[in-house]
Amino acid sequence: MYRIAPSILSANFAKLGEEITQVIASGADWIHFDVMDNHYVPNLTIGPLVCEAIRPVTQATIDVHLMVKPVDRIIPDFAKAGANVITFHPEGSEHIDRSLGLIRDSGCQAGLVFNPATPLHYMDHVMDKLDVVLLMSVNPGFGGQKFIPETLNKLRAAREKIDAYEAKTGRRILLEIDGGVKVDNIAEIARAGADTFVAGSAVFGAGKDSDSNRYDSVIRALRAELATVGA
Ligand code: DX5
Ligand code: ZN
Repeated sequence: MYRIAPSILSANFAKLGEEITQVIASGADWIHFDVMDNHYVPNLTIGPLVCEAIRPVTQATIDVHLMVKPVDRIIPDFAKAGANVITFHPEGSEHIDRSLGLIRDSGCQAGLVFNPATPLHYMDHVMDKLDVVLLMSVNPGFGGQKFIPETLNKLRAAREKIDAYEAKTGRRILLEIDGGVKVDNIAEIARAGADTFVAGSAVFGAGKDSDSNRYDSVIRALRAELATVGA
């Protein structure tokens, strides 16, 4: 019922394949893949080549978070590289409905990402094309930032919209949270309505380099917190 999606932004890039294998073996569900372009956000990360390289390493869902502008040109490349979920920021697209359609036509699940100050109404008229709604609980661009508490109110508002849509259509849209998720706040975030949790520094910062199962205890701790929440 809950998904944990470690962000490889905080992984050791010199051993990316191993990091992914370990974190999935430790019980993580998705691999969150942060794409930054030094234009839409002030940082530069990884693209379709890296997605293609890690695809054979894992069966897990690869959740591509596009922090790029424009988005349309690069969407088919990520689909071909093996992405399962592709999300983008409404500010990164001139035609949001078209970009969502492009993702789905490429065979992937589609999602919109909301920055802390971006209003939720961008989702209202495209619900039928959404598989995921992702709320940023930090400003995008860097790992290791602090969770912005106002996001809890925004989560509750997004939860209401998504539940109303599900009651009407029977179709489920996931509600994902990204930024500053830790063992000590994940339960509160789940209670506010999130069902899918990106965690970068909290996961990849855990354990010792030499431990063969270095991510077991942090994933177990995140799950134990989630287990206190109930349905
Ligand atoms: C930020 C990225 C996040 C980031 C999260 O722009 O979208 O996915 O890696 O890192 P933590 O969990 O360290 O806040
Ligand atoms: Zn992200």
